[in-house]
Amino acid sequence: MKNPQCEEAGIDDGTMLRLRDVNKSYHMAQEELHILKNISLEVSKGEFLAILGPSGSGKSTLMNVIGCMDLADSGEYYLDGIAIHRTKEKALTRIRNQEIGFIFQKYHLIPTYTVMQNIVMPLLMRGMSYQEAAESCMDTIRLLGLENRMEHKPSELSGGQQQRVAIARALVGRPAILLADEPTGALDSSTGKEVLALFSQLNRLGNTIVMITHDLGVAKNASRVVRIVDGELQE
Ligand SMILES: Nc1ncnc2c1ncn2[C@@H]1O[C@H](COP(=O)(O)OP(=O)(O)OP(=O)(O)O)[C@@H](O)[C@H]1O
Ligand SMILES: [Mg+2]
Repeated sequence: MKNPQCEEAGIDDGTMLRLRDVNKSYHMAQEELHILKNISLEVSKGEFLAILGPSGSGKSTLMNVIGCMDLADSGEYYLDGIAIHRTKEKALTRIRNQEIGFIFQKYHLIPTYTVMQNIVMPLLMRGMSYQEAAESCMDTIRLLGLENRMEHKPSELSGGQQQRVAIARALVGRPAILLADEPTGALDSSTGKEVLALFSQLNRLGNTIVMITHDLGVAKNASRVVRIVDGELQE
C-alpha cells in the first residue's frame, strides 16, 4: 500500500473504486427525491462490471457520481486511490479528464469535427500538441479499425462506427476506468454485439470497465453483474 489516503481507508492497491454508503438526492421545488440509497460497491482493477436496472432506478445518477460529474451528498468514494469525497471541483476537472473514459448511448461526438479531431480531444485538453496527440492515438485507431475514416465527420459514419470513435476517444488518454452508460442502446443488435465484443477485448487487454444497462442480455457480457432497484444495489 503506497497511497496514504488508501492506507487510511484500508483500501489495497488492487481496488479501482470503492463507494461506501453513498447517498444522492435531488431537491425539487416541493420535495426531496432520494435517488441513491446507501450505495456500497467495490470494483477491482481489471474487472468488467455491469450495473443492471430498470429505467428510473438511478443508473445514470450513479454513473455521474462514479464519473465525478456529480458529487454524492454523503458517503465515501475512492477512485484509484483518490478520495473523491474530499476533492475540490478544480481537481475534479483533472480527474474527469485523466482517470475516466466516458462512453454514452448517443456517442456525444462533436459534429463539426473529423473523427481524428474528436479522438485527440482528451489529449489536447491535457496540453499536448495536435501532432503529438495524433501520433499517440494511432495504436488505438488501428485497434478500433478506424484508420480509413479519420477525415470523416460523425454524420458520415454508421452508428456502430460512431460508437467506435467514442470508444477510441475514451481510451486514448489511458484512463483508469472506462464508464459506459447504455453503450449499445442506440445500436441494432448485431452492431451492439460487436461493440460488446470490443469491450470484452479491451477488458482482456487490462482495462477496467463499468457498464450501465437495463438489458440483462447486455449485462451478461460483463464478468460480474450487480442490480440497482429503486436506488439500492443488490449483488
Ligand atoms: N437533475 C435531476 N433533477 C431531478 N431529478 C432527477 C435528475 N436527474 C435524474 N432525476 C430523477 O432521478 C431518478 C433516476 O434517474 P436516472 O437518470 O439516474 O435513472 P436511470 O436508471 O438512468 O434511467 P434510464 O434507464 O431511463 O436512463 C429519476 O426518477 C429521475 O427523474
Ligand atoms: Mg440513464
